[in-house]
Amino acid sequence: MAVRRFVYLMSAALLLVALLLFDGIEVGRATRQDRWDPQIRMPTEKEEPETAEKELGTRWAVLVAGSSGYGNYRHQADVCHAYQLLRKGGLKEENIVVFMYDDIASHPLNPRPGIIINHPQGDDIYAGVPKDYTGEHVTAENLYAVLLGNKSAVKGGSGKVLDSKPNDRIFLYYSDHGGPGVLGMPNMPFLYAMDFINVLKKKHAAGTYKEMVMYIEACESGSVFEGVMPTDLNVYVTTASNAQESSWGTYCPGMKPPPPPEYITCLGDLYSVAWMEDSETHNLKKETVEQQYQSVKNRTSNFNNYNAGSHVMEYGNMSIKPEKLYLYQGFDPATSNFPPYNGKLDFPMEVVNQRDAELVFLWQMYKRSENGSEKKREILKQITETISHRVHLDGSMALIGAFLYGPQKSSSILNSVREPGMTLVDDWGCLKSTVRLFEKYCGSLTQYGMKHMRAFANICNSGVSKTSVEEACMAACDGHDSGQWHPSNRGYSA
Ligand SMILES: *[C@@H]1O[C@H](CO)[C@@H](O)[C@H](O)[C@H]1NC(C)=O
Ligand SMILES: *[C@@H]1O[C@H](CO)[C@@H](O)[C@H](O)[C@H]1NC(C)=O
Ligand SMILES: *[C@@H]1O[C@H](CO)[C@@H](O)[C@H](O)[C@H]1NC(C)=O
Ligand SMILES: *[C@@H]1O[C@H](CO)[C@@H](O)[C@H](O)[C@H]1NC(C)=O
Repeated sequence: MAVRRFVYLMSAALLLVALLLFDGIEVGRATRQDRWDPQIRMPTEKEEPETAEKELGTRWAVLVAGSSGYGNYRHQADVCHAYQLLRKGGLKEENIVVFMYDDIASHPLNPRPGIIINHPQGDDIYAGVPKDYTGEHVTAENLYAVLLGNKSAVKGGSGKVLDSKPNDRIFLYYSDHGGPGVLGMPNMPFLYAMDFINVLKKKHAAGTYKEMVMYIEACESGSVFEGVMPTDLNVYVTTASNAQESSWGTYCPGMKPPPPPEYITCLGDLYSVAWMEDSETHNLKKETVEQQYQSVKNRTSNFNNYNAGSHVMEYGNMSIKPEKLYLYQGFDPATSNFPPYNGKLDFPMEVVNQRDAELVFLWQMYKRSENGSEKKREILKQITETISHRVHLDGSMALIGAFLYGPQKSSSILNSVREPGMTLVDDWGCLKSTVRLFEKYCGSLTQYGMKHMRAFANICNSGVSKTSVEEACMAACDGHDSGQWHPSNRGYSA
């Protein structure tokens, strides 16, 4: 009885923490967004001469939403939006490969069945999006196979791959949760930086593209490229955040600008909507990759507020930056007369940390469910269990550090950040096996637990033996029942 009461009090305390957290969400003031007002047109400027289509090759795109679940609505919305934008730019469906779990449009919580939006006043962006890789087929392995154009390595899905030729250009866009050295996938395992870079190297060695531009939105997304992205692959990458900060969800309930009132989930992500809304308001035959990088960097910093914005980073071959964007994203003739700068996107956005967006969603769901109902109790249970698992993950990590290095040195070792330009971990195989050991004894990392990837990397970098790591994990999580977070449910994240 006493134990039950204690557990109950703990849950109540955790819930309080959760509620305080919502109040503490860093916000900025916003003015109304007038993106949908008629554009102010400049006198038509002379078009640049068309590049001969022959010389141009084919434009290809790969779009990846790395999450699932209604609380992550925004990632799939971003990807659908990107698809529509590229189609308007003239890319063909057969040249765009879409990875999305596809559980949003027909989700029971979706207030507009069959419709997905990515902006408070936005139109449907779901209709027409091809279902290349959905559900269980959204995997890191399939992404690698698609990039390499290896049809026989693809499992499930439409079988569409990048069948690109030496003169072709490729645009890759990814949106989801991440952590140091990893990007999330709705099916385990995560995408690990070194595996991804090796795929890019293989693709380059195959000589099946001219140049590639990648836009990556995730927490700590810089860490996927920092110190490991070569400059000689003809690839230019920008990321939503540097190697050690969050990226941000936006158009969230209770924030400005808000989604329509019937939505209880965020509609977009700050860096993602920044590049897409920039592309939609510019003539991409005139705007360069560099100019978009600058304006997205500017907007994603949210007026230099790094408690509610992030540092957009760039990696790879910088010679690609002076190129015009239409080479990757195509060109929509309706944008011909758009001015180079219209100031319409210059306003702060209220945002939520990617890792807390799930709690915002659960809290909205809780608030809107009927008082005293069974459903309300269920949601509350889900919130307290989610928070308890987070507390458990953080606590276990701290214990493991204390066992390995002693309580004094532990946190400085686990949290240490290497110099910019250095790779996160020297031995990526060690990183994966450490993650597996942790999950075996302590339960799945989940989207939230991705933040501990740096601690695992530092454990590897410190050179302690695998046996010591296993002992520490076993001791830290002795007797812990992972319940719904046992890795046997969803698989190991490494
Ligand atoms: C394609 O994938 C298959 C199966 O994984 C593999 O055996 C084959 O070597 C790959 N082909 C190329 C060209 O990489
Ligand atoms: C970067 O790209 C340019 C343009 O494609 C190319 O000429 C140059 O050799 C590349 N740099 C490296 C280091 O490969
Ligand atoms: C960055 O944003 C500020 C504030 O809106 C604006 O004045 C400035 O022109 C922007 N710079 C670029 C390069 O977009
Ligand atoms: C539940 O009760 C609270 C407090 O009485 C009230 O403010 C709220 O509107 C109610 N919520 C619903 C969904 O009925």
